[in-house]
Amino acid sequence: TWTPTNIIDDQVATIRAQVGDKQVICGLSGGVDSAVAAALVHKAVGDQLTCVFVDHGLLRAGEAEQVEKDYVASTGIRLKVVEAEERFLGALKGVEDPEQKRKIIGREFIRVFEAAAREVDAERNVEFLVQGTLYPDVVESGGGTGTANIKSHHNVGGLPDDLQFSLVEPLRTLFKDEVRALGAELGLPAEIVQRHPFPGPGLAIRIIGAVDRHRLDVLRAADLIAREELTAAGLDGDVWQFPVVLLADVRSVGVQGDGRTYGHPVVLRPVSSEDAMTADWSRLPYDVVAKISTRITNEVPEVNRVVLDVTSKPPGTIEWE
Ligand code: XMP
Repeated sequence: TWTPTNIIDDQVATIRAQVGDKQVICGLSGGVDSAVAAALVHKAVGDQLTCVFVDHGLLRAGEAEQVEKDYVASTGIRLKVVEAEERFLGALKGVEDPEQKRKIIGREFIRVFEAAAREVDAERNVEFLVQGTLYPDVVESGGGTGTANIKSHHNVGGLPDDLQFSLVEPLRTLFKDEVRALGAELGLPAEIVQRHPFPGPGLAIRIIGAVDRHRLDVLRAADLIAREELTAAGLDGDVWQFPVVLLADVRSVGVQGDGRTYGHPVVLRPVSSEDAMTADWSRLPYDVVAKISTRITNEVPEVNRVVLDVTSKPPGTIEWE
């Protein structure tokens, strides 16, 4: 019978048999899958695991801290953090095209991760790489086992030939809700286990226009309010994802106090979905939408207008870029 405890015991035995006394590395993204995969491997082989977290500066408010503090505190995992915000923002400077943004972020990510993996390898002689591949990913990619391949959620190519690791994929037979159950059983913070899916390129593809630090901060502030109010209303589980999008190149006239404003709109894009292939706009209660709108326009000075996206997928996509 399927219980989180059975699966954990099973996987721990399998991982121990595969890894033996060798060293393992795992990249953490801030998402559920890599967090649970790493926690399982840590339970199996403890200190033989080193995790790497590349902070590209494109995460939402508090997410990097959750990985660096709460996750580490709850698991005891050894974590190497690479602060790469400046590097990513430098590479993204002035870039407006969505696919170009993705390419740049994917390329920088693999370079930074590779450099970190080389350092860990030099210290510890790493043989294995953990990937948080889920069953739907296995089916989608034709079911084969790969060699080291940082597909994760960045959809970029593998590591170079001279840096080859064998893969450990403890979530290969599981669905997302099962992974969440394992994560909870392993004692991971609820904020990580219950997190909505989040794209690898992060907030960069939720800023329509070029990305910079100030725009990211504006979007992070608006996004945090939307998340807080969704949670306060008890609606996290009703929504698949809730992108908040900053239309950074659009301005509209508004009025506040006795002054005219000329600020930016943000778009609320809450969607319901089973698998992200199709989606519908979530019918959030209007009082929740109203609260989010009031708070964002009051608390984020750069934003003077909040709009609700009422497009299904298709024809819209979930993300705006
Ligand atoms: P769309 O916008 O195509 O998104 O309806 C479908 C799902 O994929 C996520 N998404 C991405 N995930 N890298 C990712 O890792 C990406 O470049 C990317 N683009 C979209 C999106 O958040 C949704 O869950």
